[in-house]
Amino acid sequence: MVKKQKKFVCQECGATFSKWYGRCPNCGAWNSLVEVETESTKGNKTSLRSLPLSKVEVNNVHRLTTGIKEVNRVLGGGLVPGSLILLAGEPGIGKSTLASQIGLNLAHKCTVYYLSGEENLPQIKLRLQRLTSSLPAKFYLIEGREIAGLENLVIKEKPSLVIVDSIQTVESGVLESQIGSISQIRQIAQQLMDLAKRYLVPIIIIGHITKEGRIAGPKLLEHMVDTVIYFEGDSNHQFRILRAVKNRFGTTNEVGLFTMEGSGLREVANPLTLFSSQLKVAVPGAATGVIMEGDRPILVEVQALVNPTVLNIPRRVAQGISTNKLIILSAIISRRLGLPLGNYDVFVNITGGLRIQEPAIDLAVSLAIVSAVKQKPLKPKSAFFGEVGLLGEVRPVPFINRRLKEAKRLGMERVGVTRPTLLRKLAKTELGY
Ligand SMILES: Nc1ncnc2c1ncn2[C@@H]1O[C@H](COP(=O)(O)OP(=O)(O)OP(=O)(O)O)[C@@H](O)[C@H]1O
Ligand SMILES: [Mg+2]
Repeated sequence: MVKKQKKFVCQECGATFSKWYGRCPNCGAWNSLVEVETESTKGNKTSLRSLPLSKVEVNNVHRLTTGIKEVNRVLGGGLVPGSLILLAGEPGIGKSTLASQIGLNLAHKCTVYYLSGEENLPQIKLRLQRLTSSLPAKFYLIEGREIAGLENLVIKEKPSLVIVDSIQTVESGVLESQIGSISQIRQIAQQLMDLAKRYLVPIIIIGHITKEGRIAGPKLLEHMVDTVIYFEGDSNHQFRILRAVKNRFGTTNEVGLFTMEGSGLREVANPLTLFSSQLKVAVPGAATGVIMEGDRPILVEVQALVNPTVLNIPRRVAQGISTNKLIILSAIISRRLGLPLGNYDVFVNITGGLRIQEPAIDLAVSLAIVSAVKQKPLKPKSAFFGEVGLLGEVRPVPFINRRLKEAKRLGMERVGVTRPTLLRKLAKTELGY
């Protein structure tokens, strides 16, 4: 007999408890327990089956290519049949656009379902028309927002891809709780997982991100799906990065680069066109750095401006790197290079709106600042990477060869730091003072 039970589920780790706690006894998260109704199946006699490995059949995985190289790369080569993919990102970043473009590409050859709880059918069609000049015949929009009804359609049409936009706005059709609630999201994810695995259809679920940058809904959602990809970027800038944070069918080191344009997302082959001012003349205060996004080296331009301060405490304003890093690098330059920045405001910006945490950017930032102080441009076609320490030393960083190769590919002639050296020495050779 099925009996309804109340349980408390931690949204962080998914542990369940029979009573409420202010702090999850399992993972220690505060205020993360939410009451849910569950069905107890105690008393049901189910039997399991054991199989020797030799009897387990493994079919060769035939990945479905999305027609977008950058997406295939992040997915590990394409969509795996029967996989559940969570595509997450901030509002307006382009999640629906990306999923639509994948669907449009595939729908020339096979059936694609698009179920949206966010927009009505004409709205979706308008977007699709903006993204393509010829609407493929096999792209189907699903009317209604109940996941429970999807199974019959899947059996009938056997689609090659199902897109659910978004998990927070569709209904399970089984539970009565509010749309977007934790229990609905868990239920929907479970239903979609069953559907994907049973009929071997890949399903892309779009998910929103909270203010803290986390996927809205239970943490459990990320555990349940096969692949979690984040679509990131700055809504004030054109570029977008697609990044896998979990992938049961590939590495999580690959990233895809796009720009958002009127006709949709466009793949980026040369990031330097995006992340540099592309000035033809050498200007003091600019340095090119080579950073890694996952396994991919990206060339970026660091810009620095140094100006006499009118304040008692000089300002350190950083965009694209942390202010703390700028404060530390300014102190190192003051002390170790004998260029006192105490009476100067220092502003640093990474062109194109990229946010960088990697220490490899230290050297380019430092040289950009020194170049700005000295009012002397760095030599053209130079790119730098290296971590700057408090002693004023520059240390090599990982993936030297990949960085060198990409820098050379994009026309850089003088590159990197491959051996430990001193920032003072390097600034002297590069800026000749
Ligand atoms: N006509 C247009 N020309 C250029 N860019 C556009 C146009 N229409 C929309 N965009 C871009 O597409 C973005 C919205 O894309 P999309 O709807 O795919 O985002 P989303 O992540 O699905 O948003 P939401 O969270 O609201 O569902 C806009 O922020 C804008 O940058
Ligand atoms: Mg959307």
